[in-house]
Amino acid sequence: MNNFVPLMRVFGAQCRKPSGLLGGLMGPLMNWRHKPLSRWTIELMDIQPHSSILDIGCGGGMTIEEMARLATGGFVAGVDYSEVMVRQALKRNATAVGAERVAVKSGDISNLPFEDASFDRACAIESFNYWPEPVAGLREVYRVLRPRGLVAITTAWNKEMDDQPKYAAMAQRMRFPLYAGAEMVAMLTAAGFSKVQFWLKDGKGWLCAVGVK
Ligand SMILES: C[S@@+](CC[C@H](N)C(=O)[O-])C[C@H]1O[C@@H](n2cnc3c(N)ncnc32)[C@H](O)[C@@H]1O
Repeated sequence: MNNFVPLMRVFGAQCRKPSGLLGGLMGPLMNWRHKPLSRWTIELMDIQPHSSILDIGCGGGMTIEEMARLATGGFVAGVDYSEVMVRQALKRNATAVGAERVAVKSGDISNLPFEDASFDRACAIESFNYWPEPVAGLREVYRVLRPRGLVAITTAWNKEMDDQPKYAAMAQRMRFPLYAGAEMVAMLTAAGFSKVQFWLKDGKGWLCAVGVK
């Protein structure tokens, strides 16, 4: 396992912020690998045809595409601080961007490039574990949601997994923390959200924490 540590550090850094040539491979890889996780999260978000939705840490833009299919009369925005990911997400969603049904912006969770109360729904899939100040980030999500807006935060690796020690060791090598469901609930509550609860995906160990503004 120790032989793989440098490789895992590189992979971890690319998951955190894809960049350069290697970063260019991350979008297609994550679009493929995260599709089931994305679909599960979307099921929990109760998206309506006229929903206005934000995907934070949108990566290669697959989740944006999936959500835009449901919000047929709505609007989907993606934001990511990786320029490579912004370019890929824009390319993947070019038709919807042209029709002004989708927008993808460069931006950081610490200062989202959107007005207060812009969205009915927000999600972050496999991104939250990289936020340096998770509660401050959630407060920023709270700011851009409309009253009664819903946030869904999904993490495939978490402290609820059966084989948690194995994943905890790998996450440590890749330099990101794992959270338990109760920790997610506490952070969402501290950021101001109510009706906070978490879901676990049977047989997968995925965690999705949901809260309402
Ligand atoms: C593991 S990827 C997941 C991408 C996509 N959500 C998916 O499921 O395929 C994490 C993404 O979050 C983005 N990200 C991480 N920290 C961020 C931050 N502080 N602000 C904006 N984006 C961030 C990264 O650039 C990367 O594209």
